[in-house]
Amino acid sequence: MRIDIITVLPELIESPLNHSIIKRAQKKGLVSINLHHLRDYTTDKHRTVDDYAFGPDAGMVLKIEPIYKAIEKLKSKRNYDEIIYTSPDGEPYTQRLANTLSTKENILILCGHYKGVDHRVREHLITREISIGDYVLSGGELAAAIIVDSVVRLVPGVLSDETSALTDSFQDGLLAPPAYTRPADFNGWEVPEILLSGNFKEIEKWQMEQAIERTKRLRPNLLKDE
Ligand code: ADE
Repeated sequence: MRIDIITVLPELIESPLNHSIIKRAQKKGLVSINLHHLRDYTTDKHRTVDDYAFGPDAGMVLKIEPIYKAIEKLKSKRNYDEIIYTSPDGEPYTQRLANTLSTKENILILCGHYKGVDHRVREHLITREISIGDYVLSGGELAAAIIVDSVVRLVPGVLSDETSALTDSFQDGLLAPPAYTRPADFNGWEVPEILLSGNFKEIEKWQMEQAIERTKRLRPNLLKDE
């Protein structure tokens, strides 16, 4: 899988994607993540990427020309399955969407910034708009990092224990059951006895019961969604 990200703040994305599982996925050659600085696609000497919005509203808007140039250049090299724009008014991001994106070959992400982008970018150049939640970030960079992290870990071969993504919260529509490790008794705080029984069938049954109970209690909305 190849992921290209267009941003005015590559530093903000670099660090979160250069550790642990996502770093290893890149080293193993399973995924290639490429950052593109929007300023590299400007033509004026100030490398201007934004301008005042038309109308009475205060705030700067990312200009269409450098974005168009960046996207067209990348599109001339390969076909993108999705060209994503990160924005609080996009489609709510879910594990289901992460699963869908993890099956793609080439993804391009444009990070929003300031007051947003010239709306013509969204009308003509973007295939999908994603919000990571009902709150407003300073820019789309952290949203892009979150999307990339959640997608890359689902790419086959990235997780060393292939089955572990299957038991994540949300993967089967349920929150994950609680996990424990040694010591079985810490200052009198004991691990549930069933987990020490060695009876895998009973343990799996207990885990499913726990997952359902936790989902009902903490996120009942997940059980209502189809
Ligand atoms: N940019 C600013 N806020 C955002 C959000 N909640 N999701 C995606 N991109 C954003």
